[in-house]
Amino acid sequence: MTSSNSLDRKSQAWSALFSEPMSELVQRYTASVFFDQRLWRADIQGSLAHADMLAAQAIISAQDLADIQRGMAQITQDIEAGRFEWKLELEDVHLNIEARLTQLVGDAGKRLHTGRSRNDQVATDVRLWLRHEIDAISELLRSLQFALVEVAAQHTDTIMPGFTHLQVAQPVSFGHHLLAYVEMFARDQERLQEVRARTNRLPLGSAALAGTTYALDRERVARTLGMVDAHGAAQVCQNSLDAVSDRDFAIEFTSAATLCMLHISRLSEELIIWMSQNFGFIQIADRFTTGSSIMPQKKNPDVPELARGKTGRVVGHLMGLITLMKAQPLAYNKDNQEDKEPLFDTVDTLKDTLRIFAEMIGGQVNPATGAKEGGLTVNKSRMQEAASKGYATATDLADYLVKKGLPFRDAHETVAHAVKTAQGLGVDLSALTLAQLQAFHPAIEQDVFEVLSLQGSLNARNTLGGTAPAQVKAQIARHQRRLHTD
Ligand code: ARG
Repeated sequence: MTSSNSLDRKSQAWSALFSEPMSELVQRYTASVFFDQRLWRADIQGSLAHADMLAAQAIISAQDLADIQRGMAQITQDIEAGRFEWKLELEDVHLNIEARLTQLVGDAGKRLHTGRSRNDQVATDVRLWLRHEIDAISELLRSLQFALVEVAAQHTDTIMPGFTHLQVAQPVSFGHHLLAYVEMFARDQERLQEVRARTNRLPLGSAALAGTTYALDRERVARTLGMVDAHGAAQVCQNSLDAVSDRDFAIEFTSAATLCMLHISRLSEELIIWMSQNFGFIQIADRFTTGSSIMPQKKNPDVPELARGKTGRVVGHLMGLITLMKAQPLAYNKDNQEDKEPLFDTVDTLKDTLRIFAEMIGGQVNPATGAKEGGLTVNKSRMQEAASKGYATATDLADYLVKKGLPFRDAHETVAHAVKTAQGLGVDLSALTLAQLQAFHPAIEQDVFEVLSLQGSLNARNTLGGTAPAQVKAQIARHQRRLHTD
């Protein structure tokens, strides 16, 4: 252990070249330690893999490696216990940890940076950190899909109005409606897996920009860090200039996160509409709502509203990252330090939102009963009532006439007349008498009433991907299998 620590003062971090120390303002402006310290675990993981390889290549001694491992174990404990002293003057997480390592183990700590630069170090850290977060997000996405599928399974036969242009269009199963979101979240998960594969590649060994003069074994480092493909082949960035400056993976991730938030936002919008008094389709549990300070009757859907609002900040982060990259010359530029806060906030926002939505939709397990409680409350009769207004089965009547031999365009026109008449009488099509209906077309017979019923309309849409309960049940079974084996 030596007492000298060349990184103790920022002004000394870069050697004797500098004739004056940084001003306090510039230090604060350029420092990232107060946000990038959350990369600490990835930073240590990357350093240990690098040191292990340096020793295997006989670039440092076995004793140096042991010292580095011992020092890093101590630092890990200190950070976990909240004892680590982060120093602004040491700029970022990398210099803070390295300085402390050197303080703890002396020269071995100074040898760690052999064949490495902070440029390839930070690119590696962010990738390792993001890979971990992608795995956590995938798990949360899976829970949300489970919750939606569970509710859908209880409502394959619950009829609600399906909308186009937010006008009543055709009856649909509420379960079918929920499964539309499951499809969206399933695609989000696919996208995340694709982003993960491109994130999981090793920049380390690129050094500052051009590679290094030491005989590094980059593939060994990649394998140590689990940066391998499905066949176990090491995934190493193949161009040093690209490796230190590429942040595509962060942009891609934020883009995938934006789409996921967009889906959450659409769902939020529907939940908000559905729980308004005029719809009254659902309730969400009180713990996801707040009251009004002035209107005693109010119960506001704060959580979905906030999720819809937070979508905006994630969209903003995507714009920020894209703009950050657009005019950067090769290779590393300090601009890239600005990638962290948007990326971190995207991850935090998405994780919190997914967690809260899974619970809001599916409820929580009551430990006493083992049953889930406190999820969505569905008002079936309000949904059904809404579906029976708005002539939701008009298309069914047209299809009925087509099956009786009318060309579709004529059938469409005939039904438009029928709807107009029913509207004038203030009743639904199914409330017209057979004689009244036959006045529109003589081919109409008694069996029309089955066609005009909501249940009949639903059952009739029995093609793959359609809303017939039989189809919805088949989709639920598929999702359950998929979610169990994914
Ligand atoms: N804190 C820096 C970042 O986040 C680390 C890399 C700094 N490299 C450099 N040459 N200044 O990007």
